[in-house]
Amino acid sequence: MSELVTVSNRVALPSQLQGAQGGLAVGLRAALEESGGLWFGWSGGIDERADPARAPRVQEAHGVRYATLRLTRDEYERYYMGYANQVLWPLFHYRMSFVHCTDARIEGYWEVNRLFAEHLLPLLQGDEAVWVHDYHFIPMGALLRQRGLTAPIGFFLHTPFPPWDVMRALPDHQRLLRALCAYDLVGFQTGFDRDNFLDCITHMEGGAVRDGEWAVVDGETARAGVFPIGIDVDTVAREARRGFNSQQGRRLQQSLQQRRLIIGVDRLDYSKGLRNRFEAYETLLERHSDYRRSVVFLQIAPISRGDVAEYEEIRHHLEYMAGHINGRFAEYDWVPLRYLNKGFHRSNVLGFLARSDVGLVTPMRDGMNLVAKEFVAAQNPDDPGVLVLSTLAGAARELEAAVLVNPYNVDEIVHGLDRALAMPLDERRERWQAMVKALRENDIHRWRTTFLEALHDAHGRPAPEAA
Ligand code: G6P
Repeated sequence: MSELVTVSNRVALPSQLQGAQGGLAVGLRAALEESGGLWFGWSGGIDERADPARAPRVQEAHGVRYATLRLTRDEYERYYMGYANQVLWPLFHYRMSFVHCTDARIEGYWEVNRLFAEHLLPLLQGDEAVWVHDYHFIPMGALLRQRGLTAPIGFFLHTPFPPWDVMRALPDHQRLLRALCAYDLVGFQTGFDRDNFLDCITHMEGGAVRDGEWAVVDGETARAGVFPIGIDVDTVAREARRGFNSQQGRRLQQSLQQRRLIIGVDRLDYSKGLRNRFEAYETLLERHSDYRRSVVFLQIAPISRGDVAEYEEIRHHLEYMAGHINGRFAEYDWVPLRYLNKGFHRSNVLGFLARSDVGLVTPMRDGMNLVAKEFVAAQNPDDPGVLVLSTLAGAARELEAAVLVNPYNVDEIVHGLDRALAMPLDERRERWQAMVKALRENDIHRWRTTFLEALHDAHGRPAPEAA
């Protein structure tokens, strides 16, 4: 197996196994530990002042070389907090009122992309393929090509890709769409996202789509494909068993005192639908008094991007809601909602998922959502819990046997929760088997191999001529 070079803003360093890493880090770690290779990105560190001679820090663990760069305060603010988190993230999640774009942010984004491209080139050993991930580094492929790299370069977007009418609100959308066409292959989580991208290309001056999957703009050509990210089902199941039997797993169980457990695990992000989720839980307790005292909802939500105003605001709002729900329903010996702003070691989280009766995953929009997949893989096949899943998560396209709910409709979530809590064992098993089958068909190995095969194929093949 040839070495894999991956580039992403967030790098899950071997020392960081807990916290708010998100699906990208979880997925990439699983993919890279299998193939070995280089993982290049941001260290997560900030320098108050620029260091002109800054060089990547390289470390190695489990067959993976990690090379990371620090950002200056100014880069962090313009590129990461600014353009990545206050322009692209909200736009790609259809939250246009949260987009705050300035020229300084646009320039900061391109500057950091140039910086990372320049530091990556000397780390490459030959003509190994380079796989760039997520919205932070869209220009990377074009910048590497400009600097003479001839190896295959692919891009995968972990988030949704918006339709043209949303995309065109981005002041520099032309530049970004062009940059995407410099890759050999551009991968998306779902067919909706790929179709949105191709549709954007058809709206560009000089843009065209050929054979339904090739995006062409002014001579630059990229193939666009769908590669839903998966998990390593057996490894997750094994780790979940370990977490289930760990001290923390047992303590959770004891603390429940035979009550049933609903669980949510998300970065604290407005895209995750936490407000409606809390509201739905409150409504469930209001309408169904039999659930009072008999269920507990554990929401794990480590703080993410806390310096951005919209994140601060949702954090305050959730604190208020959690206090309100507990104030309204708690008894001297029962707290209905356990709301935790912290991360746990991965095997503990998986153990908590394994001990839960209901997994509540209700994002307003999500590229994939690997927590939904992990919840399924963590269950005991003989007595599995039920997944309540948003129709607007990429995972819903594969996990059709979940209880699917529209996250914009609080009543639907309430109904979904009630259905999940009341579901007979036979139905739970049946649904679980269908979902596990889907997880196995599209696991992390398949994601990696199909993407890389398609990348090599696209690199070696000229785009079809115009008809
Ligand atoms: C999502 C994004 C990732 C990102 C993660 C965590 O999963 O797709 O690219 O790394 O959130 O967010 P953060 O800003 O902390 O890296």
